[in-house]
Amino acid sequence: MEQVQEKQRTEEFDASEIEYVSYGGEHHLPLIMNLVDQELSEPYSIFTYRYFVYLWPQLSFMAFHKGKCVGTVVCKMGDHRDSKFRGYIAMLVVIKPYRGRGIATELVTRSIQVMMESGCEEVTLEAEVTNEGALALYGRLGFIRAKRLFRYYLNGVDAFRLKLLFPQPEMADRDYTQNHDDHSPREEYSELHRHL
Ligand SMILES: CC(C)(COP(=O)(O)OP(=O)(O)OC[C@H]1O[C@@H](n2cnc3c(N)ncnc32)[C@H](O)[C@@H]1OP(=O)(O)O)[C@@H](O)C(=O)NCCC(=O)NCCS
Repeated sequence: MEQVQEKQRTEEFDASEIEYVSYGGEHHLPLIMNLVDQELSEPYSIFTYRYFVYLWPQLSFMAFHKGKCVGTVVCKMGDHRDSKFRGYIAMLVVIKPYRGRGIATELVTRSIQVMMESGCEEVTLEAEVTNEGALALYGRLGFIRAKRLFRYYLNGVDAFRLKLLFPQPEMADRDYTQNHDDHSPREEYSELHRHL
């Protein structure tokens, strides 16, 4: 019981103490695997991890606090079958005592920034329909629910496919400051851009 309480304790820290680094080599792999295995329902083999971090090391980031890995994001990018160059967020985890302080937002934003700079037109991912935290986080960053995937996960839960469309140059130039409601595209992009 004490152990559970210890695990769920909120860690006191200043946001400036969190160090963000991109994947730096094989020594980072066990740290990423450990976090993801602990927190995501879907089991991944070491080959899956290697596929992502070897091919797109620049898209995987880790958050450290005093030398301890407390969060990670793992992604890829490439041509999709409709010929769009697309980024994909495969895994995102922040350990419990460090949640609610913007670490996941910072990790994801860093990956999205590299995707944008690399020419991606959109970013996708899947999240369990029951994962309120992840759905709220991605919703705030401007992701929309593009599709519902029936029993997508091994545990039988459905997924939402979430999608973030980057504004086309002509859209980015348009003035949305007049007469927009709370959920205008401009509002969502500005939430993302606040972090970029
Ligand atoms: C989802 C997860 C990565 C969020 O990490 P985090 O560092 O706490 O996220 P942030 O602090 O950046 O959250 C940013 C926003 O996301 C939303 N959010 C995050 N967690 C939430 C929760 N549990 N409930 C509701 N909203 C939540 C909020 O809008 C939050 O903004 P706010 O703090 O101003 O309200 C973390 O809870 C986690 O690792 N969960 C288990 C693994 C997982 O589900 N990964 C996602 C798979 S798709």
